[in-house]
Amino acid sequence: MAVLVTGGLGYIGSHTCVELMNTGTEIVVVDNLYNCKKSSYDRIKALTGKDFKFYECDIRDAEGLSKIFENENIGSVIHFAGLKAVGESVQKPLEYFDNNVNGTLVLLDVMRKHGCKKIVFSSSATVYGMNNVSPLTENMEVGGVTNPYGRTKYMIECILKDLYVSDNEWSICLLRYFNPIGAHKSGTMGEDPNGIPNNLMPYITQVAIGKRECLTVHGNDYDTPDGTGVRDYIHVVDLALGHLKAVGKVEGENGLFIYNLGTGIGYSVLDVVKAFEKASGKEIPYVIGPRRSGDLATCYSNAEKALNELGWKAERGIDEMCEDSWRWQSQNPDGYPD
Ligand code: NAD
Ligand code: WQD
Repeated sequence: MAVLVTGGLGYIGSHTCVELMNTGTEIVVVDNLYNCKKSSYDRIKALTGKDFKFYECDIRDAEGLSKIFENENIGSVIHFAGLKAVGESVQKPLEYFDNNVNGTLVLLDVMRKHGCKKIVFSSSATVYGMNNVSPLTENMEVGGVTNPYGRTKYMIECILKDLYVSDNEWSICLLRYFNPIGAHKSGTMGEDPNGIPNNLMPYITQVAIGKRECLTVHGNDYDTPDGTGVRDYIHVVDLALGHLKAVGKVEGENGLFIYNLGTGIGYSVLDVVKAFEKASGKEIPYVIGPRRSGDLATCYSNAEKALNELGWKAERGIDEMCEDSWRWQSQNPDGYPD
């Protein structure tokens, strides 16, 4: 039986495909190439030395998805496909709800029709909203989200919980990612954002490579040790390995499972800048700007549940995250080739 990976050519999906294939798992990938390049497919094959089926298909295309389920022997799904830019979601809420929420509904309906009831879903720490205090634990009340992107994740979590209540033959794992950074050790796969990066690490790496002049630190008057925002950065390969455990979980038993995937450690913006400078030998000029609307002072996980129940724990520290992000950026100044 194969694992269907939606959004499998994207940043987290591609790293997860490599780890799945490295353990001999058969995969089938669906991606509409909206936010990735086809060359990501070639890089995954080159790294693993193995081929796999790729379908260029939108998850909202029920007919297209059905054909994949008819052609392939799909046992479970890892569902990464989605739009993820917080700022853009404020400008384009309908597109975000359609792509993320409607796309998931279509996928779930097709899965049900084909008797496939095992899914691992890419949720986000954003579902904890503004009102919970870190370290965040899975039993905290979710909601209170401040932007359409976050609401799509919250709504999909609600849909999946309701689905399990309606039919407990489903096995559903909600993975709440914290802040994924880093890249594959080889330097051949990494994060390749379009346009001006919104997230901290790709912005820093583009400053280091000379594409941007200087980093703007969004506020230094938070109630944190150095005044800048604190986050739980996690190496994308650790995150990918968490998915292997989650697939094992949904394949092993029915249920609705929720896990944080984070390190449990918070680093400030300036901590990350310093770690990156050490890893790359490049100076990162920065200026202090105003706070970014919607940002929290502090957000980090309690990562114990995933350790206790999945036997998973993030192994790679901030220095390695920075080294690997830099290797990817310096070897691929323009990201993936067209
Ligand atoms: P990404 O944009 O690199 O990957 C998503 C992939 O999904 C892309 O390759 C894109 O082309 C594809 N896709 C989007 N809509 C599609 C559709 N309708 N049909 C088929 N394919 C579609 O993003 P990522 O960083 O790899 O994130 C993967 C998932 O994890 C997303 O759901 C994202 O919301 C979630 N997530 C990401 C982060 C993060 O910081 N990167 C944090 C928490 C959660
Ligand atoms: C990290 C820190 C910024 C850029 C976002 C989404 C979240 C999740 C992960 C998907 C903050 C600061 C950033 C810059 C800066 N994605 N910063 N200058 O906001 O924690 O989370 O990505 O689910 O939903 O909201 O990540 O990397 O944007 O910011 O000072 O140019 O870096 O203010 O403190 P964030 P980020």
